[in-house]
Amino acid sequence: MDNSKFYITTPIYYVNDQPHIGHAYTTILADVLACYHRLIGKPTLFLTGTDEHGQKVAQAASKNGITPQQQADMTVVRFQDLWKKLEISNDDFIRTTESRHKEVVQKILQDLFDRDEIYKAEYDGWYCVTCERFYTEKDLDDGKCPEPECGREVDRIRESNYFFRMSKYQEWLIDYINNNPKFIQPDYRRNETLGFLRKELTDLCISRPKSRLDWGIDLPFDDDFVTYVWFDALVNYISAAGYLSDDEKFKKWWPASYHLIGKDILTTHTVYWPTMLKAMGLDMPETIFAHGWWLVGRNKMSKSSGNVVNPMEFIDQYGVDQFRYFLMAEMTLGQDASFTEDAFIRRYNAELANDLGNMLSRLMKMIDTHCDGRIPASSTEGEDEVQLKNVAIDAIAKMVDCVENMRIDQGLVALAGVVREVNRYFEKKQPWTLGKEGKYEELGTVLYYAAEVLRIISGMLYPVMPAKMSELRLALGLKAGDPDYKNLKNWGETVVGTKVDLKETLFPRINVKKDSNKGGNQQKLQNKTQKQSSKTKKDAAEGIAQIEYTDFTKVELRTAKIIEAKKVEGADKLLRLQVELGEEKRQLVAGIALNYKPEELPGKMIVVVANLKPAKIRGVESNGMILAAGSGNLLRLVTIDGELPSGTVVR
Ligand code: MSP
Repeated sequence: MDNSKFYITTPIYYVNDQPHIGHAYTTILADVLACYHRLIGKPTLFLTGTDEHGQKVAQAASKNGITPQQQADMTVVRFQDLWKKLEISNDDFIRTTESRHKEVVQKILQDLFDRDEIYKAEYDGWYCVTCERFYTEKDLDDGKCPEPECGREVDRIRESNYFFRMSKYQEWLIDYINNNPKFIQPDYRRNETLGFLRKELTDLCISRPKSRLDWGIDLPFDDDFVTYVWFDALVNYISAAGYLSDDEKFKKWWPASYHLIGKDILTTHTVYWPTMLKAMGLDMPETIFAHGWWLVGRNKMSKSSGNVVNPMEFIDQYGVDQFRYFLMAEMTLGQDASFTEDAFIRRYNAELANDLGNMLSRLMKMIDTHCDGRIPASSTEGEDEVQLKNVAIDAIAKMVDCVENMRIDQGLVALAGVVREVNRYFEKKQPWTLGKEGKYEELGTVLYYAAEVLRIISGMLYPVMPAKMSELRLALGLKAGDPDYKNLKNWGETVVGTKVDLKETLFPRINVKKDSNKGGNQQKLQNKTQKQSSKTKKDAAEGIAQIEYTDFTKVELRTAKIIEAKKVEGADKLLRLQVELGEEKRQLVAGIALNYKPEELPGKMIVVVANLKPAKIRGVESNGMILAAGSGNLLRLVTIDGELPSGTVVR
């Protein structure tokens, strides 16, 4: 990766409808990445915007009885308002109807036409209105649109059009993709594009006759045509960066570090766009990263199912930063993820309200009661302090690595592990007892170490939850915004004597009232779940107790790697296991000693119930429970088939 600057883009969103959670997700992800890079001191350009031409927008306008420009002007505000509310820090917002964009598209078209990269021909083939793409007979899938997410009816079309000589770049593109493994990420998306390129590439139709669609950028060399919306839209990534208008700016920012996209727009970005850039003589973006889709529960989100999640409604109910955190933590980049209100509440209550929020409240209260509201000095550093410090510092490195490798969810697992570690440290040291007993030196150490860990956490989580982490920082007497990343891993930056002050609970717990009357979107989602579950109830075999899906989601199952196993003294059936859950280390007690010898276990990747309350079994603390099948002599551990990091959520 070019280390001198960071240029990140989101797709530009169609203005045919209001923004949904999928749009919000990509924009928040880009924002988080932009923020991390700004904090480490890289000059950063973060671009988003709207795609305002084409058939979809024209059709929405005609349905609403307004002009396409009015449709765009009305809808763009919804995106801009949402980005403001979501604390999105984009440096630029491009609309494809702006003259700064249209002029560049026309200059590119004219240049390609002059160099015979674009030619006119008669077209006779198939057209998908939804995808706005042409297909040959061979391309079709059972006579329908071949796009994996589409599959709709196609229309036969015969007309004159202009074509870009995309096919001549096929071999070059295959070589480029093979020689630059970072160009398309994740790897399986690269393979998907290479699979697509196994078929002979056709030239790309880049015009639409005005007789059929007149909402677009005029072709500079033929007034009877407008530009195909994708040829126009993709150019936004360079028109906004100064191509053909501001050479210095363009030289500074291009090529982009990341184009973030959803998996459904892979071909346009990894086949059309690189060949267009090649024909223009420009460098390729460093990485095109395709993320998965948000499903609602297990279903595809769609207007017809009435399950589209409106981010505005959700953040009004639950808060902006909480929403940002959930989206970043819940989706493993590349794969689909499921959005449910219950999953949100469960994660929020566990990781933010219980672990982080409570820790902060307890710390503040102790400092207030025993240290006159000022950070106390620490005295001696024992084994527990060294362990806590190391876990926190390691998590910084882990998060940085995860940001660079697009594993933000895993970085957040590491940080959540640090927060749990500091809670355990508190439990072990019992500062409230130290206070009561007047052991102020020891108490000072415990409180100082906890405050230091929270300083690090507030910095590392700042890009994900800027407002909440600013509150946390203010509570600790630190500067609210922009944590200084250079000092983040310098242990001891918290200044003794600093006044602390928590205005109100950072993450109040969400209490779910069973029959509460939920509004709007959530009600619809809820209704859907209820409908589905009553059907399941009918299908249920008599005598088998069934639970709701929401009951299941209360159990946090995670992968864990066994590091060490030892017998528990005086208990024949019990083994004491040390396991690794992401960054976190835990001790578990398991009744498997009759089935496994301690030496067989290290290295095994097992599944544990991670959110079970700690318990003492034969005097030994157990933090969670392992999953195993069978009983007595016939008992085997549930293990993971294949490579997965420890700490991964199991569903
Ligand atoms: N205008 C084009 C992009 C042009 S970029 C030069 C477009 N717009 S869109 O508004 O339809 O979609 C924008 C993005 O939203 C796409 O990346 C798409 O993958 C994403 N999503 C749409 N539904 C989604 C989910 N359910 N989940 C996650 N992202 C999804 O395509």
